[in-house]
Amino acid sequence: MHRSVVRGVGGYLPEKCITNEDLAHTVDTTDAWIVERTGMKQRHVLAEHQNTSDMAAEAAKIALHNAGISPSEIDLIVVATVTPDHPFPATAARVQAKLCANKAFAFDVNAVCSGFIYALSVADQYIKTGMAKRALVIGADAMSKIIDWTDRATAVLFGDGAGALVLEGVPATHGDNDRGIQSTHLFSDGNHYDLLYVDTVSASENQAGHVRMQGREIFKFAIKLIGEAVEVVLQNNNITVDDIDWFVPHQANLRIIEGISTHFKIPMEKMVVTVDRHSNTSAATIPLALWEAQLDGRIQKNHRVVLEAMGGGLTWASALIKW
Ligand code: ACO
Repeated sequence: MHRSVVRGVGGYLPEKCITNEDLAHTVDTTDAWIVERTGMKQRHVLAEHQNTSDMAAEAAKIALHNAGISPSEIDLIVVATVTPDHPFPATAARVQAKLCANKAFAFDVNAVCSGFIYALSVADQYIKTGMAKRALVIGADAMSKIIDWTDRATAVLFGDGAGALVLEGVPATHGDNDRGIQSTHLFSDGNHYDLLYVDTVSASENQAGHVRMQGREIFKFAIKLIGEAVEVVLQNNNITVDDIDWFVPHQANLRIIEGISTHFKIPMEKMVVTVDRHSNTSAATIPLALWEAQLDGRIQKNHRVVLEAMGGGLTWASALIKW
């Protein structure tokens, strides 16, 4: 059995940045409302000519560079996204071509905001069994392309971005030095699909649909389901909150993150928060937060890092990584 060890992290945020004040010129909202209800102050939005695969490839290049691994050594590319460049081929295949990662097999995973943990879990299964030695796991979303910019209830919540992890399989030791992904936990319940979905896709008119969300209901589910996912990851690894160095939550709303912090008595200093600057980048929030926290020296070798997320589907998920 192998462990999937994180060798490198990367991220990409488009240059263009839209502040709350900018949005207040186009929809009936205020900076004060957005900050109070969500903690968000700005979001990045990609340029007209850019697509999800462009952001994903940029994040992947940085992760590969940091890992000291060349694209030709990658066996598997998994991209978590709900905003693929095209219905097919997979965005992962577009990324493969952009990187010249010719040896890899590549496919996408759609689990909305839980997508990155789902993709991580999929890659982990291949690595554990030895079917892949090195994998690129990417979360990338261009939410600006599926936002109804006239709907103030959703237009203020999302941003664009991509984050990537390079994983490498090493023999598991089951001792104190046993680094890598310790466990992943995935859940879904399709009964509540109508709380958060994209309304239509008209391929013939080359038009994507728009995000529709019952925000208050999603908020209630988020607190409950993320709580369950965190409980499961702690129990499964026989650890308590005190054993965790960093919590890296999906960044949907600062109030949800604070709710989890209060419920589990996790100090906010242990929570990696980017929602104020990135807003909700869907599948990209977690790898972007990992990238930031490793870059600034917070996450270090051997640290225990818990990931958690909840999103459309409904889907929810958690994971423990010994960095
Ligand atoms: N600016 C000003 N007022 C607004 C805005 C806005 N941008 N949006 C809504 N309002 C108004 C509403 O019309 C309503 O007005 P009313 O009282 O006159 O009817 C009032 O503000 C309150 O609206 P609520 O929707 O009840 O506000 P709430 O406190 O629930 O906050 C929010 C809304 C921020 C969306 C919150 O419910 C939330 O964060 N939900 C969870 C979102 C989430 O977690 N998504 C994660 C999954 S994302 C994914 O999977 C892709």
